[in-house]
Amino acid sequence: MTAPILRRLADLRAKTADWRRAGETIGLVPTMGALHAGHLSLVEAAKQACDRVIVTIFVNPKQFNNAEDLANYPRTENKDAEKLAPYGVDLIYVPDPDQIYPDGYATNVSVGGSITAVMEGPFRPGHFDGVATVVAKLFLQTSADKAFFGQKDYQQLMVVTRMARDLDIPIEVIGCETVREPSGLAMSSRNLLLPEEALAKAAALNAAMREAAAKASAGEPWEPLEAAARQALAEAGFGDVEYFDLRCAETLEALETPSRPARLLAAAWLDGIRLIDNIAVPQLNS
Ligand code: PAF
Repeated sequence: MTAPILRRLADLRAKTADWRRAGETIGLVPTMGALHAGHLSLVEAAKQACDRVIVTIFVNPKQFNNAEDLANYPRTENKDAEKLAPYGVDLIYVPDPDQIYPDGYATNVSVGGSITAVMEGPFRPGHFDGVATVVAKLFLQTSADKAFFGQKDYQQLMVVTRMARDLDIPIEVIGCETVREPSGLAMSSRNLLLPEEALAKAAALNAAMREAAAKASAGEPWEPLEAAARQALAEAGFGDVEYFDLRCAETLEALETPSRPARLLAAAWLDGIRLIDNIAVPQLNS
């Protein structure tokens, strides 16, 4: 059976108030829809950890820095509800736009500092303000105890964790493993926009990342590894590689070697679609 879809905040609050009175815990899986196996793994994690689970679907205009990207973003609400049916989700919150941004809305949540100053920050101006603002609202609207995010958007996960901590929102943010296609391609709603032949090429991103990470962990210096990866991606048919960075997993500071817990993070364009991915880089034995 498909879960009830609520579109108004008052209806959502009436439900969550009942659950709270019964002493039940609430898990939240925020999404922009076009659900795939990655989202469904978050739902499974939420079901295991909480008595009640809310999935939200809201294509948040404030986090798009490109009007065409917003217009093209896949919207598949009926299919999404069908995909969620076997998971026993308690409700799907698909807020009408005025439930998030009512007339005269004027507040912005902005996470500053080093975690937003790099990678997605400069390449997508305003993106993280949009994410932090909508996620803060969803945390407050749902009053969830735990929220589940994919590690695929590693920087986003850091931003929402910091935002909740800085604003004292009583919620635990949980990062879950990236789910991948057999080819290694990270699952993403944007993959739906890739033509069939580009899907095969897209796997080159993760392959280049795994190769560079393995060599960095074996002690090879980063700069030539990055250059070789950029070359491999160009040969595989990728366009601009916006970043292909080795960074500290906790601060996102750039690293020359994985001398402490590290992450390799990349963003690259393929056939007009921007793909991002990240993987853990095993620490160099010093
Ligand atoms: O990762 C996403 O789908 C979105 O950025 C999120 C967290 C649902 C906020 O709109």
